[in-house]
Amino acid sequence: MRKIIAFKSISSTNNYLKSEYKNLEDGCVVWSEEQSQGRGRLNRTWVSEVGNLYFSILIKDNVNHDSFYGELRKVSLSILKLLATYNIKAQIKYPNDILVDKKKIAGILIESKGFDQLEYLIVGIGLNVNQSDFGTLNDKATSIGICSKQEVDVKSVLLDFIDIYDKEEGTIEEYNRNSLIIGKWITYNNGQYFVKDIDHNGDMVLEQGSNVVRVKFNEISLEEIYDEFNN
Ligand code: BTN
Repeated sequence: MRKIIAFKSISSTNNYLKSEYKNLEDGCVVWSEEQSQGRGRLNRTWVSEVGNLYFSILIKDNVNHDSFYGELRKVSLSILKLLATYNIKAQIKYPNDILVDKKKIAGILIESKGFDQLEYLIVGIGLNVNQSDFGTLNDKATSIGICSKQEVDVKSVLLDFIDIYDKEEGTIEEYNRNSLIIGKWITYNNGQYFVKDIDHNGDMVLEQGSNVVRVKFNEISLEEIYDEFNN
């Protein structure tokens, strides 16, 4: 049984775990109904009003660098399977977004401390559940409520997620089968490359004829790759 620490309001569930991880057990989950300083990747703000799901998982035991992408795969696939229970077909927009029909429904923020053997991994997940209006972002964001045309109990979504996550293996094969980027042609260093794979480190394996290169996602312009999503 995972321990769940619940808040009505908090600055950020990731921040809470960052400051409290020493006193908390491996695997515990922190959930808040809203966040005043929700954070996304690249120091972006994650607007966190009541109605959606905001939570973080603490992983302390046996974490090393490989755990990072293992967790990313596990969480991404768990979100896909959770959404499938609402008949929502989602895909992974590598590295950290989950999309439905090109609109973002969830984002993942993984933070770690340490180098080789890590002190912790904190996996933060923001999932749009009941939000029906995203204002100027209406053509870029969606929610379970919009897709399934029903109001959903946020806590049940969390508990269902945990059930799925606890069984999820997060294999590379399944992650790649559900990734939007695999099989695309992209521009890298002025050349055209075919995205063959995302490996166990989260690196992209690019092919150009018999030439194979491995590229970290932060070495490449994702904006460019996902051009069609930004129009
Ligand atoms: C992204 O798409 O940029 C990642 C968004 C991650 C948001 C979640 S909400 C719960 C947890 N606490 C935070 O402050 N951020 C993550």
